[in-house]
Amino acid sequence: MQTRLFRAVGWSSAAVLAVLGVAVFLLVLTSVKDAALPTRNKYGLVFDAGSTHTALYIYRWPADKENGTGIVSQVEACTVSGPGISSYADNATGAGASLKPCLDKAMEIIPVEQQRETPTYLGATAGMRLLREQNSTKAEQVFAEVSKAIAEYPVDFRGARVLTGNEEGSFGWITVNYLLETLVKFSFAEKWEHPRDTEVLGALDLGGASTQITFQPGVPIEDKNTSVFFRLYGTNYSLYTHSYLCYGQTQALKMLLAALHQAFSGLYHNLHFLNLTRGQSLSSVQATIRQFCTSSWEKVQKEFPTEKRDHLRDTCAASSYTLTLLVQGYRFNHTTWLNIHFVRQVANIDVGWTLGYMLNLTNMIPSEIPQRVTGLKRSNWTAATVLLAIMLILIFSLLTVICCQKTPSGYEML
Ligand SMILES: *[C@@H]1O[C@H](CO)[C@@H](O)[C@H](O)[C@H]1NC(C)=O
Ligand SMILES: *[C@@H]1O[C@H](CO)[C@@H](O)[C@H](O)[C@H]1NC(C)=O
Ligand SMILES: *[C@@H]1O[C@H](CO)[C@@H](O)[C@H](O)[C@H]1NC(C)=O
Ligand SMILES: *[C@@H]1O[C@H](CO)[C@@H](O)[C@H](O)[C@H]1NC(C)=O
Ligand SMILES: *[C@@H]1O[C@H](CO)[C@@H](O)[C@H](O)[C@H]1NC(C)=O
Ligand SMILES: *[C@@H]1O[C@H](CO)[C@@H](O)[C@H](O)[C@H]1NC(C)=O
Repeated sequence: MQTRLFRAVGWSSAAVLAVLGVAVFLLVLTSVKDAALPTRNKYGLVFDAGSTHTALYIYRWPADKENGTGIVSQVEACTVSGPGISSYADNATGAGASLKPCLDKAMEIIPVEQQRETPTYLGATAGMRLLREQNSTKAEQVFAEVSKAIAEYPVDFRGARVLTGNEEGSFGWITVNYLLETLVKFSFAEKWEHPRDTEVLGALDLGGASTQITFQPGVPIEDKNTSVFFRLYGTNYSLYTHSYLCYGQTQALKMLLAALHQAFSGLYHNLHFLNLTRGQSLSSVQATIRQFCTSSWEKVQKEFPTEKRDHLRDTCAASSYTLTLLVQGYRFNHTTWLNIHFVRQVANIDVGWTLGYMLNLTNMIPSEIPQRVTGLKRSNWTAATVLLAIMLILIFSLLTVICCQKTPSGYEML
């Protein structure tokens, strides 16, 4: 009588244990997907071949968080010495050779086992656009030589090409909005969401030989030449973008512009030297520039004793040109001026087209919001823990039953 009772308890416990075991396995197995491997970094390289100089940007991001925002970091921005690649029109091999010191630097940074899977791009802007218009054979020779130089390195080289002005503007816009997390954000509810209270930002950019403006207008764009469409993280963006080539006018203006863009280029740099990038009013900016430009050369040198003479000489022209572009060209007024934020970097990443270009070409900005399952879901984890606890209790009761079971037959049955 007692033996039968023990057997019944034993069998039913075993059955319950088996069911619970299967349940725990299912809970764990179905939810562990990409959490198994330790986080690995991925790298990407983009050459920005501008009209006055070339720079190599080295980016890094955790492989398991590919589709998030703000997770790409800039490891290095290596400036290639010498002029832009379009200046090598008559010495194309020189263009290729000029890139090598920066590529060597990249190879020191990227772990050897990851070099072969590092996507590498070269994008050329206004300087090469102009060279291609003047003599396309020469432009092709320059591209052939830079491609040859990059192909000597063990990277996943995906080509060198000229970006259109619209692409330059659009990718700059993507960079800014990606870095400021206005496209998608991982909310407190642990979901990817389109941020409701933030608006996407427009992007203005002054390169060595062109200037770009890109923004989301409130009205439909009729001219297809200036409109671009993106679907990013589940939201449609219809943008206005326009690129103006600055060259092609008088030789004097060409020389002036070339001088303005020796250091770095851009709206930020031209105004930053006079401390005008801190959100001052338009009147105050105008007054400061007027004051600087009417100062005597002696006074200016005394005021900035450590500054290079060339830079000091061009400061008046550069800041006046920038102000004219924004006020006369883009028609910013005293009110709208206050909406302009002059930035060189966001989160230690240079703001330019290169990051947006890489993000798009590596499909890191999916058109739909990513659905990620990382590790165990909290609810599954709780359920698994409770089931394991019940299993332990059952195992203990079972052991107790076995220990107290004296008849050999009952023992065999288990
Ligand atoms: C373009 O460059 C090539 C090679 O440098 C030269 O042979 C050709 O004459 C040039 N064409 C024009 C239109 O200048
Ligand atoms: C758009 O671009 C094409 C080719 O560059 C040009 O022929 C056309 O006139 C442009 N359209 C407008 C509305 O500017
Ligand atoms: C967004 O664009 C897609 C085409 O890519 C279209 O099918 C969809 O209807 C658009 N959604 C909205 C809300 O406009
Ligand atoms: C800009 O501001 C910094 C500190 O705020 C100051 O040291 C520097 O002299 C200023 N430069 C000019 C041109 O006003
Ligand atoms: C982004 O990349 C895709 C290819 O992956 C390409 O088809 C698309 O045109 C690119 N977007 C832009 C604006 O160039
Ligand atoms: C990122 O998005 C792409 C396209 O939606 C997808 O194929 C890829 O698996 C995603 N990567 C991660 C790490 O979620």
